[in-house]
Amino acid sequence: METTLFEALGGEPVIRRIVDAFYDRIDKSTVFRSMFPADLAETRTKTFEFLVGWTGGPQLYMEKYGHPRLRMRHMPFPIGTVERNEWMRCMSEAVTEVGVDPKAGRAFFDSLWKTADFLRNKPEGT
Ligand code: HEM
Repeated sequence: METTLFEALGGEPVIRRIVDAFYDRIDKSTVFRSMFPADLAETRTKTFEFLVGWTGGPQLYMEKYGHPRLRMRHMPFPIGTVERNEWMRCMSEAVTEVGVDPKAGRAFFDSLWKTADFLRNKPEGT
């Protein structure tokens, strides 16, 4: 049986800690503070549920909300290279803070990077 990224990262408790460490940074980010809601509790839970399923664990997000349609859902927010890089900085620091198996951490980071890049929706230089 092949191990999922979900298992390699350490399952739900580790993903919850990564998401919390990530939103603690989003909360303090000058790039993001006005883009995200003041109260991040629901956003934390939704992102946790999404990442559990996305890494190969139980489909918690899909069961509640259906297909995430990430690109469409991010359209209201202007996302360019700066925002992509800032999102990845927050995530990279969160993963480092929590501490995961290095191979699993790299695979997680690479997949997130591809998705973050795909979510860019504004012309450069604006
Ligand atoms: C590229 C930079 C990104 C920016 C600036 C960004 C920004 C946002 C914002 C502002 C929200 C709305 C929060 C709320 O109203 O609760 C959101 C929601 C969300 N984002 Fe992102 N995001 C980025 C990348 C990503 C990536 C790479 C993923 C997944 C791999 C992701 C997954 C989600 C999910 C699951 C939600 C919740 C959707 C829902 O409301 O059901 N985002 N994001």
